[in-house]
Amino acid sequence: MLITLEGIDGSGKSTLYEGLKERLSDLDPVFTREPGSPYLGDAVRQATAENTDPLAEAALFVADHAVHLSEVVRPALAAGKLVISDRYTDSRFAYQQVSLKGVHPDPKAWLSAVHRGWSITPDLTLLLLIDPETALSRVSGRGEREHFEQTEFLSAGQKNYLERAGEEPSRFLMIDATLPPETILDFAEESIRLRIGQIK
Ligand code: TMP
Repeated sequence: MLITLEGIDGSGKSTLYEGLKERLSDLDPVFTREPGSPYLGDAVRQATAENTDPLAEAALFVADHAVHLSEVVRPALAAGKLVISDRYTDSRFAYQQVSLKGVHPDPKAWLSAVHRGWSITPDLTLLLLIDPETALSRVSGRGEREHFEQTEFLSAGQKNYLERAGEEPSRFLMIDATLPPETILDFAEESIRLRIGQIK
């Protein structure tokens, strides 16, 4: 089973990810992330830091996803493991739909086409929702801002997440990211255990 965590920068996704490592240790899941493949992950980070061509950047995110699938996700699923990924394809639909605006006539169609036929859809996606201003104030102490870390960009990105959730309501669980971290963790843990059929 594949479970993904999504949300704009500053939504508390990484805190949730770290918390789930402890809470779900009895299930021995594979914890993974995008971007994260050994050298493509670095290339992606360099591309985002240098504000490179948006199509090149998007293609690098897709390349990273391909390596992530072939080297981590597919083998783990084939071995019957629970896989939990911090960001996955919905991040591209959220973020690259914004960065490709004006660069490609139909970013959503391009993103759909480029994933079709080989990518794997998650079984469950936990989407953290937050006011973009609040999210930005949370990341503002972290040093240099990526070009994604701007209010308008994150607002548009969150809208795209919500559109995805509206298109696939049974896959998405939306979580108010302003709730206390422990409450979010309790809800996320219970939702995951329910989905894998461990509790009824
Ligand atoms: P991170 O903050 O979770 O490490 O992710 C790095 C940044 O990359 C974050 O701002 C979201 C962005 N991103 C995309 O724009 N597209 C993608 O496909 C992924 C996986 C991340």
